[in-house]
Amino acid sequence: MGVEVSAAPASGASAAPTTLGEDWWRRGVVYQIYPRSFADTDGNGVGDLPGIIRHLVHLGPDGLGVDAIWLSPIYPSPGLDVGYDVIDHGAVDPLLGTEQDFDHLVEGCHERGIRVILDLVMNHTSDRHPWFIDSRQSRDGAHADWYIWRDPAGLDANGRPVPPNNWVSWFGGGAWEYEPKRGQFYHHTFLKEQPELDWRNPAVEAAQFAMVRGWLERGVDGFRLDTFNVFLKDRDMRSNPRRRGRTAWTRQVHLHDFDQPELAALIGRFRSILDKKRGRMSVGELFVGTTEGAAALTVDGHLVFDWELITRPWSATAFRGAILRRERAFGDNRWPTIVLSNHDQPRHASRLAASIGDGPGVQDAIAKAAAIMSLTMRGTPFLYYGEELGSGDVAVPPDESIDEPARHVTPDFPWWDRSQSRTPMPWSGEPGAGFSTGRPWLRLAPDVAARNVAAESADPDSVLSCYRRMLSVRRRYRSLQDGEIALLRSIGDPTVLGYRRTGEGPEALVLIAFGPGSAVVSVPEPERGRAWRPVVGTHLDLPESLAPGTPVTLRPYEAVVSVASRS
Ligand code: GLC
Repeated sequence: MGVEVSAAPASGASAAPTTLGEDWWRRGVVYQIYPRSFADTDGNGVGDLPGIIRHLVHLGPDGLGVDAIWLSPIYPSPGLDVGYDVIDHGAVDPLLGTEQDFDHLVEGCHERGIRVILDLVMNHTSDRHPWFIDSRQSRDGAHADWYIWRDPAGLDANGRPVPPNNWVSWFGGGAWEYEPKRGQFYHHTFLKEQPELDWRNPAVEAAQFAMVRGWLERGVDGFRLDTFNVFLKDRDMRSNPRRRGRTAWTRQVHLHDFDQPELAALIGRFRSILDKKRGRMSVGELFVGTTEGAAALTVDGHLVFDWELITRPWSATAFRGAILRRERAFGDNRWPTIVLSNHDQPRHASRLAASIGDGPGVQDAIAKAAAIMSLTMRGTPFLYYGEELGSGDVAVPPDESIDEPARHVTPDFPWWDRSQSRTPMPWSGEPGAGFSTGRPWLRLAPDVAARNVAAESADPDSVLSCYRRMLSVRRRYRSLQDGEIALLRSIGDPTVLGYRRTGEGPEALVLIAFGPGSAVVSVPEPERGRAWRPVVGTHLDLPESLAPGTPVTLRPYEAVVSVASRS
């Protein structure tokens, strides 16, 4: 277990850390916490904010040394979309802690040089949000036009109201729900219990931006914007054109239900609130879109997740292709993010191992090589809690699953049960894995007795120790943080990915062997008067040097980072 942080009462917002400077969002590493699964201090089986405070040592300079944490939603929520259905964007869910706990968390983070990024779910609310409760009552209440309400397109043969257009929900079924009290439909891209706010209504924008200012005043350093490219829809709510596809969603060309031209201006207005003080970041979750689309919405200080890396199998060619496409899309002036896992996707250690037909046998080896890759590529790495342990997905039986869309699966709506990648963080080999003394809200992984923070901390060859080593090297070399990347063209073995990072300070060379056998490569010349000196890798015993002209043998799944040192 970690050490308790002194719980000094919050005396106003604590100052953001100054480490790394104002562009820390470009140079640093962000760690995503799914609060319900991090650490439970009150024994109810659900992680809470005091649990995060308790484990700040794991995240701070004496542990991983990350620069920011992103908290998945912490607001009051009925929990149907496990926190992404919000009933009050400005408050802390009592299930997770008190308002004071939150202020202590910000303070504890700042003391350790960690910034705090909140997840803002501003596209929709819960249907139990007071705004929606009011909105659905009548067409003339205070919030009557805060949501997207439209008249029926007519009546069907049975006299039932027909939805205004053909839009479908990402979570299956139609995207419109009829409300008899208003005689109208409301729109929902996600669950019907997540009605869509009308961002074309200035009152909605004003209310949301006031909430944003409130969190900034409490010391928050940035935000992740949930599904931000869905905020605006076609003004005329036109039906989407149809196309061939295997699911209801893919049978439409999504021209009108998101990605509207006015989005950039809206993000500009949001950014101007953050930019009142320097160093505040935001990152938009691109909901369904291409890498080029993500790049187009990226501006200084506002990153956008693209999904290029998260969709690739474990192969040097695949990741090489992904990097090339990203570099082409983002160019020199836009900064990409690096994401291999998150709370919506399968965990990458097991996913990548499975992608080459191998199971747990290679999970740790791949987790280490992937760690070296994601922490040295150009972009801001976002680590997902537990990935530093090499954790994989957990098979959660349907009756224990907590992921509503998984209950609505039809051939037209296939779904991956997200419970599998949201299971509790294992801290120790104690009962409850040091996560909770109660019954965890989701089952623990079957391997927590060996795969936990305490056990891996004690093993220099563990995945966790590899992450710590790599993160500490990354902090030392500026070129690994914000340098340029150049892929090596031919190094002698196509199963090895190689790239150079150049920027301030010594250049770095990264080699990652993707194959299950040894690989022999030749390395390029470093700058004149310098030699490649290996500084960190997947294996504890590093090659002594990498001499250009002399073949270098990499072991299965070995990754090595070298820097150009004076020879
Ligand atoms: C985002 C979240 C996801 C959620 C959805 C609807 O995609 O990451 O977890 O279900 O938005 O809020």
